[in-house]
Amino acid sequence: MSRKGIILAGGLGTRMYPLTIATSKQLLPIYDKPMIFYPLSILINSGIKEILIISTVEHIDLFKKLFGNGKELGILIDYKVQKEPKGIAQAIILAERFLKKSDFCLILGDNIIFGDDNEISKKLHEAFISRNATIFSKSVKFPEKYGVASFKKNKLIKLIEKPKKFISNQAIVGLYFYPNSAVKESKKLKFSKRGELEITDLNNIYIKKNKMNILSLSKKIFWYDAGSHKDYYKVTKKVYDFQLKFKKSIANIHELVFKKKYINKKIFRQNILKYSKSSYGDYLKK
Ligand code: G1P
Repeated sequence: MSRKGIILAGGLGTRMYPLTIATSKQLLPIYDKPMIFYPLSILINSGIKEILIISTVEHIDLFKKLFGNGKELGILIDYKVQKEPKGIAQAIILAERFLKKSDFCLILGDNIIFGDDNEISKKLHEAFISRNATIFSKSVKFPEKYGVASFKKNKLIKLIEKPKKFISNQAIVGLYFYPNSAVKESKKLKFSKRGELEITDLNNIYIKKNKMNILSLSKKIFWYDAGSHKDYYKVTKKVYDFQLKFKKSIANIHELVFKKKYINKKIFRQNILKYSKSSYGDYLKK
């Protein structure tokens, strides 16, 4: 079964000004790596090897400079411009030609997920092999900032985008697995009041059809949406502390693709050489 990946790294980044006047939010450093390494590591972890990065006209070339065609990672990376930020579900429509008939996984470029590797791999695998769509939820203190799951007798009945009233503390993570039919379904969506094709509207279609799985992430998983200065600072600090404590490198995509045998020893050695002057390279060498 083939499944492709999409990373949405668009948006104007105005909530992060002045940090994002001259660059893309998804390229800001999360301690020792660009932010986009983190969502990319989730796609690689899922077993996805063909990935489309969607970004703005201004920033798309920066991502091309960072990853090229993906050869250094033994994967295929393609690029697409989103002219205006018209919503997460619009990214799916933009990806139509790239996806062809494939099922896919969409992840937001500012969503950072790490923690218990076993749990993450198990849940990603479950989503990967399902014929249904899959979303992930996480219990949070301030659900009003996210899409939120509403349950009746433990059954998921609906998602509500940024609810003003309390519905549940289960926020929806910016990581979505869909069958190919999501392209067709996204085309039927109408623009919301904020002028976007809402991913929450798409998800509600699959919930209504009884074709949506929801997997909740335990306390052993950390999830951050690095969309504000405060959250950006918090995740950077957490990554630094976590790496120091567990002597691990989170979202080290070069390590990941070597372990998955997407690249051979020769290319891995070339990578070590390329990064040899940084602690990122020191870690690869070890
Ligand atoms: C988007 C989605 C929301 C989701 C969140 C996760 O919100 O609309 O449902 O919970 O990403 O990061 P946005 O970041 O566009 O406000």
